[in-house]
Amino acid sequence: MSPNAAQLLGRIQARRARVGVVGLGYVGLPLAVEFARNGLTCTGIDLDARKIAAVMRGESYIPDVPSADVQALVADGRLTATSDFSAVAELDTINICVPTPLRKTKDPDMSYIVSAVEAIAMHLRPRTLVILESTTYPGTTEEVVQPLLEVNGLRAGVDFFLAFSPERVDPGNGTYNTRNVPKVVGGMTPECAELARALYGTSIDTVIPVSSPRVAEMVKLLENTFRAVNIGLVNEIALMCDKLGIDVWEVVDAAKTKPFGFMPFYPGPGLGGHCIPIDPFYLSWKAKQYGFEPRFIELAGNVNGAMPHATVDKIAEALNVGKQSLNGARILIAGIAYKRDIDDMRESPSLDVMGLLHQKGARLCYADPYVPTLAARSWLGGYDLASVQIDLAALAEVDCVAILTDHRAFDYDAIVAGAPLIVDTRNAIKQVHPHVFKLGAPAPAHAQAWRPSTAPA
Ligand SMILES: NC(=O)c1ccc[n+]([C@@H]2O[C@H](COP(=O)([O-])OP(=O)(O)OC[C@H]3O[C@@H](n4cnc5c(N)ncnc54)[C@H](O)[C@@H]3O)[C@@H](O)[C@H]2O)c1
Repeated sequence: MSPNAAQLLGRIQARRARVGVVGLGYVGLPLAVEFARNGLTCTGIDLDARKIAAVMRGESYIPDVPSADVQALVADGRLTATSDFSAVAELDTINICVPTPLRKTKDPDMSYIVSAVEAIAMHLRPRTLVILESTTYPGTTEEVVQPLLEVNGLRAGVDFFLAFSPERVDPGNGTYNTRNVPKVVGGMTPECAELARALYGTSIDTVIPVSSPRVAEMVKLLENTFRAVNIGLVNEIALMCDKLGIDVWEVVDAAKTKPFGFMPFYPGPGLGGHCIPIDPFYLSWKAKQYGFEPRFIELAGNVNGAMPHATVDKIAEALNVGKQSLNGARILIAGIAYKRDIDDMRESPSLDVMGLLHQKGARLCYADPYVPTLAARSWLGGYDLASVQIDLAALAEVDCVAILTDHRAFDYDAIVAGAPLIVDTRNAIKQVHPHVFKLGAPAPAHAQAWRPSTAPA
């Protein structure tokens, strides 16, 4: 091992390394807290002054990270946060966790990575380890990050160290967290890999080395493409079941009793979040540059992208039974976050469903304990909304409740008892009721609106 690498390795192993995390969002804040909890001194860098102020006040804005932990670590001097990139000069290691969205054209938007890396490069010192964690296409670390970091003459793999390690956090998952999800690591050189492995080894239970950053980048895209394609498959099966008069939820529940060779995925109103709807398109964009047409990704994208429309069709079908139309119907949307028990509404299919319903003349309100307000600019309805409490009075005011996110906080018995009509896209309501319609299932036997008298004759 070179003297530079050996020196850094010694600092990491002795937990004397000063570590940094750039981008303190859903990925970066839990990582920074985990490093600090494990005895490293961590500096978080983010351009968002509100996040910096919150961390320094000891407040967490990420539901999976308790404020008490942030408070204790800040008070201890283990965790600090700043918007000033000159802090990079004091750091031994830097993990980059900035967003990687898509442009409207479905091309990768690398602007956050580029701007973060340019800012790091201005203050980069020899012997620093830089690890990109943002999900991105294979080749990014060596084709984009490396040249930007080398701009002032330092050489990757010689003067400083470079690796890619995909973040696999699953917000809201009570079992798997930053510490116990194995971390895949690909270094530019064996020394880079060894250093990255040592860094994660301080705070993460299992580290899985792979041969290069490119392989590590591809691992993440395989994982998320796997999910997108399987969700696309089950969504297609759901639409098929609807036509065939079969309940897809019953089918998946029975299929998953097979102890091998099957893994359950569930249908829903569409894909959401920062990962599954986006990451596969990073891969297809790169593959197309090599003349390769990735068919599964495009097909899954088409099927999943059509699910908000299928949801609106289901709501129209349900209203139709009570001789009502979407136009003028009062619909309560239960759940804005893209999945259960979290507050993240990025790319949420609820927003698409709401926009489509609004276009057809429905009058909307919503309930989501994790999303207190919804600004007009966030959805295609063009008006501000605030979450309502689901109680008897609220249910009496609407023609239909559409369950788009199955938060555990919702009282489904109360919804069944009080709502005139329900469209359940998540199988949140297990029993059969004549006024509960499910995505991917035939209309309930004796389907009727609970209070058909409220419908026009
Ligand atoms: N959220 C997830 O569940 C998840 C899971 C796995 C991987 N990822 C990937 O991790 C990356 C980060 O995702 P996230 O959900 O944490 O995003 P996020 O939006 O929650 O956080 C990103 C943070 O980066 C900051 N930022 C943006 N540009 C910056 C810059 N130039 N310098 C410093 N800070 C900057 C933002 O202010 C924000 O606080 C993405 O590539 C995403 O695909 C996310």
